[in-house]
Amino acid sequence: NLAQICADEIKKANNIVLLSGAGMSTNAGIPDFRGPNGIYRRQLGVNPERIFDIDYFLEDPSFFYKFHREFLQTLKNIKPTYAHKFFAALEKNGKLKGIITQNIDSLHQMAGSKNVMEIHGGIWKSFCIDCNKTWDYEESMKLVFSQEVPRCDRCGGIIKPDIVFFGEMVKHLEESQKLVKECDLLFVVGSSLVVTPAALLPRLARGKIIIVNKGETNKSYLPSNIPTLHVEQDIDEFFKAVNYHIGLD
Ligand code: OAD
Ligand code: ZN
Repeated sequence: NLAQICADEIKKANNIVLLSGAGMSTNAGIPDFRGPNGIYRRQLGVNPERIFDIDYFLEDPSFFYKFHREFLQTLKNIKPTYAHKFFAALEKNGKLKGIITQNIDSLHQMAGSKNVMEIHGGIWKSFCIDCNKTWDYEESMKLVFSQEVPRCDRCGGIIKPDIVFFGEMVKHLEESQKLVKECDLLFVVGSSLVVTPAALLPRLARGKIIIVNKGETNKSYLPSNIPTLHVEQDIDEFFKAVNYHIGLD
């Protein structure tokens, strides 16, 4: 049974790292991108991948902001999933050394995880794309909900949240690479593994890899010389079954 196998791997491991993607948060009510009800499946009249395209943002920031207001509303009412809490508990008991997340929903931190690399940035900070003035979360929320496109009060520039768009550099890449290189067990949870450089991180693993992801999962970047287990089950249901054999609280 896969949950039993996974539990045994966790018991053997001393340095676990998690790479998480949008599928980790669908059970919290946040849609993913490429799953059956994903954001990129929406019929918007234009390619929905433009929401996070930096060139398109500079051309028409209102397109992103329409989507972003909806996302921020959703965020107000959500809680971490079972799986988020499971990985927070694994860190607390000393086995898990870090989480590399592609998500900007901050649910890992809400669940109590400490060492979280938000490689696609987050919503904590916003800045003016012209003069670099920054705003914290609370201040930027006011601006986002009072203007169609929030603008800088100093220079009139467009305000952009510190989320990594297509065409921009990811954050904490070196630290993330180091975490993966040093771990003896890498979990890849809720990611289609199509967006690089995040999808290239598992190549650096030297221990074992356990992928927990339903639906299409791109395997082409995975290392061929590392034992890899792919669990195609619901994330929360699977980790509940795993914890049955481990008993973290
Ligand atoms: P994707 O939406 O590409 O992949 C999420 C995966 O999770 C899909 O394969 C789903 O089938 C699977 N999934 C969803 N819910 C699940 C569940 N409850 N149990 C098991 N599997 C489930 O999301 P990411 O790989 O995170 O970047 O996408 C990577 C990046 O693409 C995002 O960070 C975002 C996006 O463009 C930027 O915006 C820069
Ligand atoms: Zn400015």
